[in-house]
Order: sequence, then structure tokens, then C-alpha cells
Amino acid sequence: MCGCGQQCWGWGNCAASPMLLLSLLLSTAPFALRGEDTRQVSLEVIPGWPDTPQNLLHVRAVGTNSTLHYVWGTLGPPAVVLVATNTPHSTLSVNWSHLLSPEPDGGLMVLPKDSIQFSSALIFTRLLEFDSTNVSDTAAKAPGKPYPPYSLAKFSWNNITDSLDPTTLTATFQGHPMNDATRAFVNGSLAFRVQAFSRSSRPAQSPRLLHTADTCQLEVTLVGASPRGNRSLFGLEVATLGRGPDCPLVQEQHSIDDEYAPAVFQLDQLLWGSLPTGFVQWRPVAYSQQQRGRESALPGHASPLHPTLAYSLPQSPIVRAFFGPQNNFCAFNVTFGTSTGPGYWDQHYLSWSMLVGVGSPPADALSPLVLGIMAVALGAPGLILLGGGLFLLLRHKRPLEYESIN
Ligand SMILES: *[C@@H]1O[C@H](CO)[C@@H](O)[C@H](O)[C@H]1NC(C)=O
Ligand SMILES: *[C@@H]1O[C@H](CO)[C@@H](O)[C@H](O)[C@H]1NC(C)=O
Ligand SMILES: *[C@@H]1O[C@H](CO)[C@@H](O)[C@H](O)[C@H]1NC(C)=O
Ligand SMILES: *[C@@H]1O[C@H](CO)[C@@H](O)[C@H](O)[C@H]1NC(C)=O
Ligand SMILES: *[C@@H]1O[C@H](CO)[C@@H](O)[C@H](O)[C@H]1NC(C)=O
Ligand SMILES: *[C@@H]1O[C@H](CO)[C@@H](O)[C@H](O)[C@H]1NC(C)=O
Ligand SMILES: *[C@@H]1O[C@H](CO)[C@@H](O)[C@H](O)[C@H]1NC(C)=O
Repeated sequence: MCGCGQQCWGWGNCAASPMLLLSLLLSTAPFALRGEDTRQVSLEVIPGWPDTPQNLLHVRAVGTNSTLHYVWGTLGPPAVVLVATNTPHSTLSVNWSHLLSPEPDGGLMVLPKDSIQFSSALIFTRLLEFDSTNVSDTAAKAPGKPYPPYSLAKFSWNNITDSLDPTTLTATFQGHPMNDATRAFVNGSLAFRVQAFSRSSRPAQSPRLLHTADTCQLEVTLVGASPRGNRSLFGLEVATLGRGPDCPLVQEQHSIDDEYAPAVFQLDQLLWGSLPTGFVQWRPVAYSQQQRGRESALPGHASPLHPTLAYSLPQSPIVRAFFGPQNNFCAFNVTFGTSTGPGYWDQHYLSWSMLVGVGSPPADALSPLVLGIMAVALGAPGLILLGGGLFLLLRHKRPLEYESIN
């Protein structure tokens, strides 16, 4: 009769129907519970050779029937190789002499090979800087005139052993250009803070990405480096492996809920294949202060992911060691801020977070606050109707009683 089955799927159509809206809300609830899954997570610095800095971090996350391996390294540009296996017993094997050789193919392996269900990689190739002085706000998509980018393959990185914290499951790679001719990084550094999780939760700090035991969070922070202009915008170039001729899919998801990241209603994600495979997820926002809020939020903009010739990108030995020679790279740029908003120039601070994971990306349920507001919004008309009904009922009743008395 009402044809609801076909017409009510649009949000707009359904807003008028409390029952349908309620059932939609209830159907989102299982997502919030889904992360009960836990893993035994360990972080290990793979011992290197005596005079090479130890810069290979192995995150091993063991579940009942599977093991995830995240190998983060700054041999070459910062990169992560992620591998999912269908056994709780798979191991990582590293042959340093092989890995450090000009042909590292096979220097990094996950064994047994036939347990591998999924593998891919992310490479953080360049730190970008743009001069936004002449960019009007209307053309905000173009960050401005690019300065020569900093190749992250030409950075030197700290010994991560000192930063490894087994209780919080974190480790930080901190680096600066090897050859800092302009002395921009005399007091500055670029840090990649990696965090693993043994269960599903949400950090206290914005953008409060929902994580699961299947994910790692990466926080990239630029601190104290001297910008080359008064209105410098920064960004990162990120590369990944393509699948055949195609690039992974990038999706934008919109929500009416910004409780976890004020004024950000979007979640971007990169999917390596049809679900469940692997994903990268981030909110298009960076922060220009350690105190994260609306005032320090810089809008992020990601360029489309497109095929990129391998030779035009700084190469990662660890990616080559695991995957062998590859030609199908895809890359995108993510840039932060506008010439008029808050910016890196305020405090010489910029921080951006993302999640990388295996399986289906965590999906945000509506936050309790928004659910409360909706309940009140839906409840108020209901109360008014109920009140009105009672009033009519009573009004009809009185004359009757009056008559009967007469
Ligand atoms: C890194 O730090 C650890 C602990 O401080 C030390 O044992 C190790 O030798 C260091 N490695 C290098 C290459 O300096
Ligand atoms: C693990 O595998 C067994 C047998 O294949 C299956 O019965 C069980 O449900 C799996 N457990 C999980 C947590 O996936
Ligand atoms: C490591 O690789 C080298 C050659 O790259 C090889 O000679 C050596 O046997 C390998 N070591 C192990 C333990 O496999
Ligand atoms: C900005 O634009 C003005 C006028 O078009 C030009 O003279 C100036 O060189 C530009 N500055 C930069 C940094 O591009
Ligand atoms: C680096 O810090 C020192 C001490 O705080 C300061 O004197 C110097 O000017 C700074 N250099 C740059 C390039 O910011
Ligand atoms: C930066 O701003 C100062 C003061 O407003 C100005 O003197 C200087 O020329 C500007 N520098 C650049 C590179 O635009
Ligand atoms: C990222 O931006 C830089 C500077 O504008 C540019 O050279 C590079 O090609 C861009 N990379 C991608 C993948 O768009």
C-alpha cells in the first residue's frame, strides 16, 4: 500500500517515520559491538646490523585463527608492509644482508607463504610544502605554489628502541633531513608514531578514530621546522601498490555526527579490494596545536589516487624486499589548511592521524550524544501528540460526566 519497501531507503523520505528511523538506528548498533575481537599484540624491534640504526618495527597481532603482521620501517622512506595470515603461528623472517643489498627481493618474508590471505603496503614518500599567500579561499582546493618537496628517503631517523613502549603498544620514528642545507629542521622534526591495539576502542584525542585489534594507528607530526614562507601549507605524498592496472578505491563517507572530531562530518577511506581485504581510514583534518579542537582544526584535502610510475617515487627497500620489483604504484597527496584559517605558522605544529588495517574498516555508530538529541527530537512531537490526545479525551469526557450527573 505505502510502497515503503522501495521508497523509504532515502534518509530524507524516512525522517518522517519514527519507526523506520528507530529501526535504522538499531541496525547500526551491532557495529559498535563488533570490535569485541581481541588479539595478543607484541611490538618488536628487529635487531639490525651493528652500525645500521635499528629501524624495523614488527607489530605481530595474534588472534584465534589468524595473525596480522605490520612491518614498519624507515629503511628508505617510512613505509609499512601489512600481511594477514590464516594461522596463529605465522612468523616474519628478515635477512638483513639481503635487505640491505641493492636487490632486496626476498629479504623480508612471512612464513608459511601459503597462509597469506592479504598483503599490501603504504609508503610515505615526500613531505610537501606550498606557498598559499596568493591563494584565494574560493580556490581552496589548490594549496598554492609548491616548494621543492622534502624526500623522506633522504631523512635520517632515530633509534626507535628508546621510544618503544610495550604498555601503550607505541613506537615513534623521528627524523630530519640528512642534508639540511637551509637549516629548516635545526629545531624541528617529523615524527611517525605507530600504535597497535589489542582491542577495539577510541583514543581520548581528536579525531578519535575508532580502532580495532585489526588496525594500527599512525600519527604524523611535524614540529618546530621553519617554514619557507609566511603562509606555508604542508602535506604528505602517500604511495601504495596498485592491483593490476587499477588503483585502490578511495571513498568519502559523510555523517551527521561530529562528536568525536568537532566540525568534521567526513571520513575518508582507501580500500585495497572488495571487502574484506585491507584499508586506510582517516578524517580530513589535521591539528595545528597539541590542544585539539575546533580552533586548531585544519581541513584536509586528498587528491585522487592515480597510477604513478615507480621511478618517479622514492623507493622503499622493505616493500621491494617483500613484494619484489613492482611497477603498479598509485599515489595521492593529502594537504592541510587554507591560507586564511589557522595554520602551521601559529605554533609550528601540525599533526594528522590515520588508521591502517585488515578486514572491514571500523564503522562509526552514531555517538550517544547524537542518539540522545535524536531521541529528544523524536520524543518531543510524540509527547505533544500524546498530550494532545489526552487533552481531547478529557475534554470529551467531561461533558459526558456532566450530562450523566444531570
Ligand atoms: C638502539 O638503542 C638500543 C637501546 O638503547 C641499543 O641497545 C642499540 O644498540 C641501539 N642501536 C643502534 C644502532 O644504535
Ligand atoms: C576458528 O576456526 C574454527 C575452525 O575453522 C572455527 O570453528 C571458529 O569459529 C574460528 N574462530 C574464529 C574466532 O574465527
Ligand atoms: C641471507 O641472504 C644472503 C644473500 O643475500 C644469503 O647468502 C644467506 O644465506 C641468507 N641467510 C639466510 C639465513 O637465509
Ligand atoms: C602574488 O601575486 C602578486 C600579484 O599577482 C605577485 O606580484 C606576487 O609575486 C605573487 N606572490 C607570490 C608569492 O606568488
Ligand atoms: C633554534 O632554537 C634556538 C634556541 O631555542 C634558537 O636560538 C634558534 O634561533 C632556533 N633556530 C631556528 C632556525 O629556529
Ligand atoms: C613575511 O611577512 C613579513 C611581515 O609581514 C614580510 O616582511 C616578509 O616579506 C614576508 N615574507 C615572505 C616570504 O612573504
Ligand atoms: C604531490 O604534490 C607534488 C607537489 O605539487 C607533486 O610534485 C606531486 O606530483 C604530487 N603527487 C601526486 C601523487 O599527486
